[in-house]
Amino acid sequence: MVETARSLAVAVNSHPVVRILLGSRCSVSLIVWSLVGCILMIHFYSLIHQKDREKIHIGSSHLSVTRELEEVEEESLYFPPPRGKRSPHALKRRGPRKPPSVIDEFLDESSEVHALFFPHRKSAVNPNKKGNDSMYYYPGRLWLDTEGNPIQAHGGGILFDERTETYYWYGENKDGPTYQAHRKGAARVDIIGVSCYSSKDLWEWTNEGIVLSGEETNASHDLHVSNVLERPKVIYNDVSDRYVMWMHIDDANYTKASVGVAVSDSPTGPFTYLYSFRPHGFDSRDMTVFKDDDGKAYLIYSSEDNSELHIGPLTDDYFNVTRVMRRILVGQHREAPALFKYQGTYYMITSGCTGWAPNRALAHAAESIMGPWETMGNPCIGGNKIFRSATFFAQSTYVVPLLGLPGSFIFMADRWNPSELRDSRYVWLPLTVGGMADEPLEYNFGFPLWSRVSIYWHRRWRLPEGWWRTA
Ligand SMILES: *[C@@H]1O[C@H](CO)[C@@H](O)[C@H](O)[C@H]1NC(C)=O
Ligand SMILES: *[C@@H]1O[C@H](CO)[C@@H](O)[C@H](O)[C@H]1NC(C)=O
Ligand SMILES: *[C@@H]1O[C@H](CO)[C@@H](O)[C@H](O)[C@H]1NC(C)=O
Ligand SMILES: *[C@@H]1O[C@H](CO)[C@@H](O)[C@H](O)[C@H]1NC(C)=O
Repeated sequence: MVETARSLAVAVNSHPVVRILLGSRCSVSLIVWSLVGCILMIHFYSLIHQKDREKIHIGSSHLSVTRELEEVEEESLYFPPPRGKRSPHALKRRGPRKPPSVIDEFLDESSEVHALFFPHRKSAVNPNKKGNDSMYYYPGRLWLDTEGNPIQAHGGGILFDERTETYYWYGENKDGPTYQAHRKGAARVDIIGVSCYSSKDLWEWTNEGIVLSGEETNASHDLHVSNVLERPKVIYNDVSDRYVMWMHIDDANYTKASVGVAVSDSPTGPFTYLYSFRPHGFDSRDMTVFKDDDGKAYLIYSSEDNSELHIGPLTDDYFNVTRVMRRILVGQHREAPALFKYQGTYYMITSGCTGWAPNRALAHAAESIMGPWETMGNPCIGGNKIFRSATFFAQSTYVVPLLGLPGSFIFMADRWNPSELRDSRYVWLPLTVGGMADEPLEYNFGFPLWSRVSIYWHRRWRLPEGWWRTA
């Protein structure tokens, strides 16, 4: 709008008649400027009106099919009171004196609260058992693949492959024993590799196997089982026709703090591991990659000991970063970034840094992907206060755009189970963009610049029937 106003003023100013009038007398120039003012006001008014009309149109057209997803569902879970006895793990984590919080209880594998959030196999989401539960997501329940095995794709991301019109879900396979490398080490599982699952509808997933495997013998290899491979993400390079995987590579103590790159000619692998490095020379832990509409891709990573995020474009082959880098959310201590774009604006969900324990999510927005990024507040809606303050007891990992449902996304999160990491669960919930942000930090002519990002709690939900056919 500012641009339009400026160019209009310039146009009026440079008109010969106007210039002569302006040159003659003060009162005439006053009249001309009042006229210009009037024109501008009318122009603004029609612009704003037009924008509103567009908004209403977009809003109503997608609301009709997704209204169900945006229902606010309260959750009045009864939290059993903490018992006297606690597991040795829990005691070690918190010490014997502190009274346990709900989060402590959630992390204590012997507590009833823990059992509430990690229900047993009987309630598993099973695509083979079609019927009333068909197509429904049950956040936090065991989720089986088409062979009846629990899906192993933690810290994952989803690639939509246009050629095969198939979704591929990549994530960490953590199907091994959980242990501590040493007394003060975090709970870990040896590197098994990156799993891949394929689906047409984002609900029924077929296991495509391990597409990048851990290294069993060579102890100096990045993928040696004793190391760490987290948050793998795959993007497709239209120019080279190759699938490029980026991941967090670390040693058991998280001191290597690097990114790893692997490549494949097929979305189902096998991927060839290339190398790891510290992007722009900085430590890099939680990370993600984002491919923009113009084919340009970006790496976003937690750096400076997780105190800030860094963002920078990848090279055209997606094998490296360029020299360009911006520091964003400096001093905010955010991790687990998940980026998406809607109507030209970039959005990001992040978590705080509390290890495996869940914490409050934040939504951020930016007009340019390189920043500045503004923090808009907690996107979580529904559930209850504890749910919202702990991202529904999960941590962001990816946001999936839904083709055919503009403005609707799936928020993918991990409900980590640090006492048995392979049993960590998936919390997928509908995410929409629209309405007023809670903390709009910037105003443009009195209008907040950002739309609210909302993640709606549902105990059970599904996408509108046949949504993928409308894509
Ligand atoms: C499916 O729903 C119908 C109607 O709500 C119900 O009568 C039936 O028992 C349900 N079947 C299963 C397997 O839950
Ligand atoms: C072990 O891995 C390192 C690093 O990738 C490599 O340089 C070396 O050649 C490998 N050794 C063997 C025996 O494969
Ligand atoms: C990690 O730290 C522990 C204790 O400080 C040490 O014993 C161990 O050798 C370290 N491991 C690696 C892989 O650096
Ligand atoms: C990545 O780019 C940097 C320069 O920006 C260069 O120094 C480095 O060698 C490159 N890495 C690879 C693996 O090509």
